[in-house]
Amino acid sequence: MLSEVLLVSAPGKVILHGEHAVVHGKVALAMALNLRTFLRLQPHSNGKVCLNLPNIGVKRAWDVAGLQLQDTSFLEQGDATVPTAEQVEKLKEVAGITQDGAKPEGLAVLAFLYLYLSICRKQRALPSLDITVWSQLPTGAGLGSSAAYSACMAAALLTMCEEIPNPQKDGVSASRWAVEDLELINKWAFQGERMIHGNPSGVDNAVSTWGGALRFQQGKISSLERPLALKILLTNTKVPRSTKTLVASVRSRLLKFPEIVTPLLTSINAISLECERMLGEMAVAPAPEHYLVLEELIDMNQHHLNALGVGHASLDQLCRVTMAHGLHSKLTGAGGGGCGITLLRPDLEQPEVEATKQALNDCGFDCWETSIGAPGISVHSADFLDPSVRQALDGL
Ligand code: MEV
Repeated sequence: MLSEVLLVSAPGKVILHGEHAVVHGKVALAMALNLRTFLRLQPHSNGKVCLNLPNIGVKRAWDVAGLQLQDTSFLEQGDATVPTAEQVEKLKEVAGITQDGAKPEGLAVLAFLYLYLSICRKQRALPSLDITVWSQLPTGAGLGSSAAYSACMAAALLTMCEEIPNPQKDGVSASRWAVEDLELINKWAFQGERMIHGNPSGVDNAVSTWGGALRFQQGKISSLERPLALKILLTNTKVPRSTKTLVASVRSRLLKFPEIVTPLLTSINAISLECERMLGEMAVAPAPEHYLVLEELIDMNQHHLNALGVGHASLDQLCRVTMAHGLHSKLTGAGGGGCGITLLRPDLEQPEVEATKQALNDCGFDCWETSIGAPGISVHSADFLDPSVRQALDGL
């Protein structure tokens, strides 16, 4: 068992193209968002397991002896098995989770306990530890915050239990695990996601683990080779929406107007494929013309998404405001409000970016200047960690 402090981080995700169309078997491209979740794991010998989640106000502690005494034999079924409904209920009992079990706070605690008890069960005794997780990602905005949480948890626990090696190198700010270790992290991260979401597609945890850009279609996920990091503005309109309702509304429009909606979905598929081709060319030799094509693709897809009925006045406003600064935007995720992305060409002057951000803030939106195509789960050296992240993890 490792005794040193571990610092890991994992990215959130955005869908670049293919939302909604993916539900109907088309290709979607998801990219790792460089807004990250950070986790610090401090091994102890004080007989306690402590979990601190400052973003959502969770501070819980358990006696290791108490957890050790519980009947957790239901978890002893080999690697990364699928938790059944009965197991989840039993785990809630073990965790002392009652009425808040379905709230984000309760689900985060449940996912932690599941991963802790499952991953550490091969140890002679359950370990004492202190875990703090802090995120730059807003929760419930469709940006994969729970997958980033599960990936960090899985990576840190697997490393502490020496199921996978610690890849951290001296004098290097961030290091990554080998492919076979990432596969194991992804498997467990998916199990954590299932605790939180029930039946997720597996895309969010795959993006958090592998980073970069992923193509997904009909449950098949593959990484795009050497994706470039693209600078973007990520804007949260803060208009609440229900993914379930929006997905259902596209389905009913498809049933009502198949001759009209089917070509829209086919066209969105072609946009994803063309974007994938562009990203491939840009990985070899990026040129200004590539960005112009990416902007055109963004505009066309945004119009298609409006035609599917998943636009919103707030998203129209976001597109208008950014267009006034010569920038191109589309919704990302379910639409109906929620988040949008705006591509920032590399030739843009910073004052123009600042003016756009200000204009978006003036609309009442939250706006981040960040990038997509970010690295996946990584382990960090404390000396190189951004002071603001260190302060957040230290609860300052
Ligand atoms: C939501 O983030 C993306 C949708 O395509 C729904 C889904 O793929 O499950 C709208």
